[in-house]
Amino acid sequence: MLRKIWYGAAVVMIMLGMMTSVASADVGDAARGKVLWEAKLCKNCHGANGEGAYAGPRAGDGKSADEWVKQVRTPRANMPAFNDVQVSDQEIADMWTYIQTQPKPASFAPKQFPLSANASAGEQLVAQKRCVACHGDYSGTLRFRFVTQGRTTIDTATVLKQLRTPAQNMPMFSAEQVTDEQAAQIAAYLQTRLDAVAAAGSTASAPNTLPVSGGSQSASTLPWVLVLIGVAMLGAGVLSKSKRAA
Ligand code: HEC
Ligand code: HEC
Repeated sequence: MLRKIWYGAAVVMIMLGMMTSVASADVGDAARGKVLWEAKLCKNCHGANGEGAYAGPRAGDGKSADEWVKQVRTPRANMPAFNDVQVSDQEIADMWTYIQTQPKPASFAPKQFPLSANASAGEQLVAQKRCVACHGDYSGTLRFRFVTQGRTTIDTATVLKQLRTPAQNMPMFSAEQVTDEQAAQIAAYLQTRLDAVAAAGSTASAPNTLPVSGGSQSASTLPWVLVLIGVAMLGAGVLSKSKRAA
């Protein structure tokens, strides 16, 4: 009788462990999703709680996790694309799960980045294409990736390379989203900013809105602990039985 209960409990442990590990792979983990939402910079455009910022709200958007994956890989409208090295399908599912816990905002008006009085075409473009959501006025990026590394020019080729094959966690902008001609206008603007940032030297404070790299995550271990305990219980049961038989 006792032995039956023991084996029964072992099997339940194993099944529970396997079920929860499958379930968490399917729908994602909200706590991990919250960390990723910030680390992967989705929050810069869609708001810390999915309430909307430079782009529309995601909280209460009624989309499925699969639709989210599709949007991140092959975005519609002006959203840049993230590849699966930058953001995995599982990470998108985690972020989706987190945003499902957030309330749909009652209203939304897109955030506007302040432009200078007679803004050049390039300055207008970085606001319109939402580069400003991550780069602000570019003083952080230009200081840390150019000035401190002795890079004094930022030309069209540099900008195009970053747009089409971005380094680090920056998503990819296609030629439909930012044309080569627009990239040239952006480069001209960024060169004037680079000159200004370099001239300001070390006295200027550098607001850096960008994290250096994505956050790390560890897979949930609970399901495997359950499976292991179950297997150990089965093993112990079999062992004690064979001992008694011997
Ligand atoms: C540079 C700004 C920007 C960033 C960064 C960004 N998005 Fe978007 N996203 C947009 C824009 C623009 C749209 C289109 C409409 C809108 O919401 O204004 C959009 C739309 C979406 C949609 C809705 C698609 C549909 O079918 O309507 C989803 C889902 C989405 N984004 C998820 C994400 C996730 C996940 C991340 C981070 C991996 C992310 N976005 C990062 C700008 C951005
Ligand atoms: C979702 C956030 C995000 C958006 C939107 C974004 N970037 Fe970036 N960008 C980054 C990150 C991250 C880096 C690398 C780290 C850093 O800048 O410190 C980067 C780096 C750069 C660099 C430096 C490349 C080099 O050679 O070192 C340039 C230039 C740049 N971005 C231009 C743009 C332009 C132009 C746009 C808009 C069309 C844009 N970015 C939109 C996140 C973003």
